[in-house]
Amino acid sequence: MGKLAPSILSADFARLGEQVEAISRAGADYIHVDVMDGHFVPNISFGSTVMKSLNKLETAPYDVHLMIENPDDYIGDFVTEKTEFIVVHQEACRHLHRTIQNIKSYNVKAGVSLNPGTPISALDCILSDVDLVLIMSVNPGFGGQKFIPNAIEKIRELDRIRKEKGYGFVIEIDGGIILDNAADVKRAGCDIFVAGSAVFGAEDIEQRVKEFKQIL
Ligand code: DX5
Ligand code: ZN
Repeated sequence: MGKLAPSILSADFARLGEQVEAISRAGADYIHVDVMDGHFVPNISFGSTVMKSLNKLETAPYDVHLMIENPDDYIGDFVTEKTEFIVVHQEACRHLHRTIQNIKSYNVKAGVSLNPGTPISALDCILSDVDLVLIMSVNPGFGGQKFIPNAIEKIRELDRIRKEKGYGFVIEIDGGIILDNAADVKRAGCDIFVAGSAVFGAEDIEQRVKEFKQIL
């Protein structure tokens, strides 16, 4: 069964705790935490203090997506008892191998993400070391954008490579995921589905989580 990771970028920040507890109760598998620095992407979201303020609540584990330059300087800030994955961008890391080992040194699972314009081959030398590969199906920076279909072919390619080589990473997709395209992405080999506006834009967010879980 596929896993759902609602992105709190699209949550109502005045009711963040309440909404995060509601989606967790409804069956969300991870809380997707989108961190943007205004440099790697043309938008600023929030930092680790916002994420840590959720720590005392009953929530699903965190899946932290760092869309920032110099991620090594901040990885430690995002490590909490609820952090399952920390994901960095291949395009933001000059020494990707070192950054992945840095994440793992905190006993957190390490992921790497690719923008729509970056080929899977950019990860050839790191696939055996990562726990997760995140395929962006929009150019990162904003919620509510339209799904870019080349992500499906990239997921197929990744799934084929991991089967061939026996790699253990999971595949995640992020951007423009709605109820209508989730099944196609799942068939391509995806394991974890990020959805921001499709969850938090719904009238009943708990109901929407359940609808997604049924498709996945
Ligand atoms: C985009 C973020 C996504 C985004 C997804 O830069 O990484 O996680 O919030 O939002 P939707 O599902 O609305 O495209
Ligand atoms: Zn994200």
